[in-house]
Amino acid sequence: MTIPVTVLGATGLVGQVFCERLAGHPLFQIETLVAGPESAGLPYAEAVRWRRPAGVPGEVANLRLVSTPERLTTQVAFSGLSPGAAARLEGPYAEDGAWVFTNAGHHRMDPDVPLVIPEINGDHLALAPAQDRSGAIVANPNCTTVGLALAIAPLVARFGVGAARVVSLQARSGAGLQAGEIMELEDDLIPFIPGEAVKMASELPKILGRWHPGGALVPADVTVQATCMRVPVTHGHTLCVDVTLGAAASEEEMRAAWRTYSGLEGAADLPSAPHPLIHVADGPEHPRPGGHRDRGQGLAISVGPPAPLDAGGRRWTFTTLSHNLVRGAAGGAILTAEDAHRRGLLDG
Ligand SMILES: NC(=O)c1ccc[n+]([C@@H]2O[C@H](COP(=O)([O-])OP(=O)(O)OC[C@H]3O[C@@H](n4cnc5c(N)ncnc54)[C@H](OP(=O)(O)O)[C@@H]3O)[C@@H](O)[C@H]2O)c1
Repeated sequence: MTIPVTVLGATGLVGQVFCERLAGHPLFQIETLVAGPESAGLPYAEAVRWRRPAGVPGEVANLRLVSTPERLTTQVAFSGLSPGAAARLEGPYAEDGAWVFTNAGHHRMDPDVPLVIPEINGDHLALAPAQDRSGAIVANPNCTTVGLALAIAPLVARFGVGAARVVSLQARSGAGLQAGEIMELEDDLIPFIPGEAVKMASELPKILGRWHPGGALVPADVTVQATCMRVPVTHGHTLCVDVTLGAAASEEEMRAAWRTYSGLEGAADLPSAPHPLIHVADGPEHPRPGGHRDRGQGLAISVGPPAPLDAGGRRWTFTTLSHNLVRGAAGGAILTAEDAHRRGLLDG
């Protein structure tokens, strides 16, 4: 039996990926689609400015959009709401009993809100039932942080990581449909994305942090300095990462750490888990957004070959690529909800 779900912000770029990936999902079935007041009552296919390569899924094409209902009729909601609407609506829905899997940033750093990448910290989901709400808010990290965390977690496990310096080259779609000007970016780049570097620096230690039942989450001792840029790529965030490891590694050991990483027990068995999780490039001309962002149906990440920055094996540079709308947003949130279901946290 499938669990009925609501998609909040269903007409946006993230909402469209939710609709695409939930169509035919083995655990979840879309019951309600929510968007802004202008779309209320319209069939989804008529209201949406559809931007995905395949057509609008038949399962949702004729579903009529609802505008911000006072209460949700499903226990599970996936949110692709714009930041302002998310800040206003997600809390009350969770207080009323819904489990809201959100991509918005508002609650990410709340101490009782798990900030989840299932392979790295799916165990943090156990924080959610202790929230002072009948339901819960479970957050996806920022789309740029997701790629960094998945590339760094295997290195943390094998060698320890003390610091990362990152330059991000972020796709246009990361700004959402409402940022029309950015969506049109061509032959240019924007060398600063407001708030993005701060999010990476605060979110990574929380994701990599340790949590024991009954205790508070202890953030990992890792510092991140980032410069974040918008580039004229449609989808896929590329990060140029310099890391300082806790212990020396060889290039082959770095590659092996990525190649063999499958994360926490059970994560690789989730219905949408990618195999492999991390693709390691042979040559320095990879990864590239155009060719590699859709690996593992957008849920796998790619890393380029590591190059040493010192003679001692502790400082390395590499690139990493992840799909911002899939692993960094809707696909990641669905994977997290699959993990919550596996852990017995959702009804059904
Ligand atoms: N784009 C990415 O790569 C990415 C990655 C990670 C996280 N995020 C986060 O995910 C969220 C969605 O991003 P996006 O890129 O999909 O943005 P988007 O394309 O601008 O979509 C925003 C969605 O929110 C809806 N909305 C806005 N105000 C509303 C209201 N008052 N009531 C109901 N619905 C309302 C919009 O509906 P209407 O069409 O009716 O206005 C639309 O469906 C944002 O919080 C963003 O920060 C985005």
